[in-house]
Amino acid sequence: MKSLVCVGAQWGDEGKGKLVDILAENAHVVVRFQGGNNAGHTLVVDGVQTILHLVPSGILHENTTCAIGNGVVVDPEVLVQEVEMLQARGKLDDMSRLVVSPMCHVIMPWHKRLDAAREQASGSHKIGTTRRGIGPTYEDKAARRGIRMYEFIQPQRLTERIRTGVMMANSMLEALGDEPYLGVEIEEMIQRCHKLGEEIAPLLGDVGELIVQIGESGGRVLFEGAQGALLDVDHGTYPYVTSSNCAAAQAALGSGVGPAWASEVLGVTKAYTTRVGEGPFPSELHTAVGEQLRELGGEFGATTGRPRRCGWLDLVALRHAIRINGVTQLAVTKLDVLSKLSEYQVCEAYELPDGTRIDRFPYDPLVLEQVKPVLKAFVGMDDLPSTLNKFEDLPGSAQSFVAYLQEQLGVPVTIISVGPQRGEELILDAALVPNHQSVAVATARGAQA
Ligand code: IMP
Repeated sequence: MKSLVCVGAQWGDEGKGKLVDILAENAHVVVRFQGGNNAGHTLVVDGVQTILHLVPSGILHENTTCAIGNGVVVDPEVLVQEVEMLQARGKLDDMSRLVVSPMCHVIMPWHKRLDAAREQASGSHKIGTTRRGIGPTYEDKAARRGIRMYEFIQPQRLTERIRTGVMMANSMLEALGDEPYLGVEIEEMIQRCHKLGEEIAPLLGDVGELIVQIGESGGRVLFEGAQGALLDVDHGTYPYVTSSNCAAAQAALGSGVGPAWASEVLGVTKAYTTRVGEGPFPSELHTAVGEQLRELGGEFGATTGRPRRCGWLDLVALRHAIRINGVTQLAVTKLDVLSKLSEYQVCEAYELPDGTRIDRFPYDPLVLEQVKPVLKAFVGMDDLPSTLNKFEDLPGSAQSFVAYLQEQLGVPVTIISVGPQRGEELILDAALVPNHQSVAVATARGAQA
């Protein structure tokens, strides 16, 4: 397997970080291709927890190079903080292991302030964003007035871009009833950005070229998606989505290679469903069982700490995610959490207010808000062991659940995760199992065009 794209098949938080950490052992480069530090990927290695928001989750493997592709929006403060944190823990002694595309758009301070001001002003219509400035940065990218990394590291050019950017942001902030940026604050921002630019400059390099070189030398590439299918700006529950395409095809566009690199796709789903922020969620539980799932699964946002909304696994939404991503195999996470319930349910279809049963995912949020889930009830599973060597190590009730999913969804389940730690999972496809041989790669460094 030359490349694999790992994407969320729900509303994010499916456990991609843990899986990427495991699969990275079998990869020569791990690439992020969309989103920014709205993501929060939690890794637990030898009992030590690391939460990454921007740096790819492969960074804990010392033989793996990590790349941030052009499709990612980068907050320079967060990038520098994560690099410092990893260095302090001895996990990034060799800086050539981290490459950032010079074409990444930069999250500037005003993007964060605008994100928060807009949410504040939207009242009951708010999206429930992470307030990390993701939306405003992608807006500027599409409007062709964004600041890219290669400009961010050029002090004079950056100073001019900041002055123009602040002017535009000020008019929007004032219209939203927020404080504009004033003289001293702007000068401090310029100085701070120059300093961050100096620290980031050595990290810049051609990500697309790196991927092709690694592939041509026989290496393997792992693309790490952030958020999930249902938060995709085109195919998700618009407008309650993030501002990037999270689907697998974006792996190619967001890193500078062709679509053939995105043909093998691992979709990740929890054994139940969660969502953070606003928007429709047909299988949401408003009962004590929802609370129980939140407590048992530790369902609180890794980025914002917000409690996640919890509900049953939704096969209608999953089939949609499988189609838009071209999912070829599925990972099911947190099966241990679901197994702790004495009974559980799965949403197999939706019912419209007039009683019609549908099994396709509606694109209109007003329709999605009105559907009722058609649920199938299951008796709870027997206790799961935390060490699994083969499928038969799972109790029969859990095996039946996995078989049911495969039959309903038409894709093989190749990974089953039963705990947050490395090792608490079963990998059923031999091609995913670690087999690391080093390949020689000269990183194409430099920010020049
Ligand atoms: P934004 O990406 O900060 O603009 O937020 C837009 C929507 O996406 C909100 O509902 C967020 O809660 C959600 N979101 C963004 N990133 C993540 C993530 O990594 N996991 C789960 N939800 C996310």
